[in-house]
Amino acid sequence: METVVSGVRPTGHLHIGNYFGAVKNFISMQEAHKCYFFVADYHRLTTHLNSDDTLSESVLNVVSEYLACGLDPNKCTLYAQSDLPETCELYLILNMLAYKGELEKCTTFKDKVRDQKTNINTGLLTYPVLMAADILIHKADKVPVGKDQEQHLEMTRNYAKRFNHIFKTDYFPEPIAFNFGDNLIKVPGLDGSGKMGKSEGADNAVYLFEEEAVIRKKVMRAKTDSGPSKPDSKPTQELQNLFDIMQIVSEKNTLEFFLHSYKDCSIRYGELKQTLADDIIKFTSPFREKIKEYSANKDYIKRILNLGKEKAKENAQSTIKDVRKLIGFNSY
Ligand code: ADP
Ligand code: TRP
Repeated sequence: METVVSGVRPTGHLHIGNYFGAVKNFISMQEAHKCYFFVADYHRLTTHLNSDDTLSESVLNVVSEYLACGLDPNKCTLYAQSDLPETCELYLILNMLAYKGELEKCTTFKDKVRDQKTNINTGLLTYPVLMAADILIHKADKVPVGKDQEQHLEMTRNYAKRFNHIFKTDYFPEPIAFNFGDNLIKVPGLDGSGKMGKSEGADNAVYLFEEEAVIRKKVMRAKTDSGPSKPDSKPTQELQNLFDIMQIVSEKNTLEFFLHSYKDCSIRYGELKQTLADDIIKFTSPFREKIKEYSANKDYIKRILNLGKEKAKENAQSTIKDVRKLIGFNSY
């Protein structure tokens, strides 16, 4: 049976990008694989190192939202990354296999250097090493993530290969980024640029927990352009983003209708946005109700995390024991 690992940083609520890029695959994978899904609260510190009390609240929120999406604690192991400090020991060891030059070239690091100029900490630099430790601590084969994480998976494979080579072993598998469809997914945001994300501005993402009116307002405000200038013109980035979101939440013929009306210049953006808002709301509504139920029951969520911690620990401790032996650490 293959082992699957993945996580989400608790820096806010789950949005539809997280769902289609990652969580949707978690739900399918829990049926037939040994799955570990966690909340990456150590990783959160790379961008949110402060003493407010939103850390544990955010962790509990993400777990409530995982459950509302359909993750079943009887079928998978759900835990908080900080409950598994074995990951930190592996992180330390993997750091010896990670080269500074490679880490500096990583796209996500370069983005942070640009966006977070006053706090370019080495936690950000070695973010992919900690992520590799999350994955390799369970000797995972597959990692369901969105397209933005592809490069991190390539780095994980490099560290696994280097470890295996140095210690003349085939101990670590070389895990792959995985999506049930053909390609890894990138859900665009509503602001006309890049991907939907929690750090990309409040109006860029649609969250699973959000009320109808809020979603409608966000979609109606989404960036568009001044309209196709001539028949058969290629959609601008802003429009393509809306079409891409429509492709994942709407019926095929709805998308075709609007693509066609864009081509012949009869498209009305107001109508496009109304329809898109309706379809997003239709999709998120069932989650919203369940999120409310789970969020109201924090004790249950904590019990799930404690259970997950025990299961994850068993596996992680066995990996660390093997790794220490392979490296040649003895208890002196
Ligand atoms: P965010 O970028 O909003 O902070 P995370 O970095 O916590 O979200 O991502 C958690 C998971 O969701 C990762 O597997 C990531 O690849 C996926 N993901 C995030 N945003 C998107 C998106 N817009 N499209 C596809 N997958 C995404
Ligand atoms: N880096 C991931 C993200 O930002 C979150 C994450 C941390 C992760 N560790 C992981 C994902 C291990 C998969 C496996 O989305």
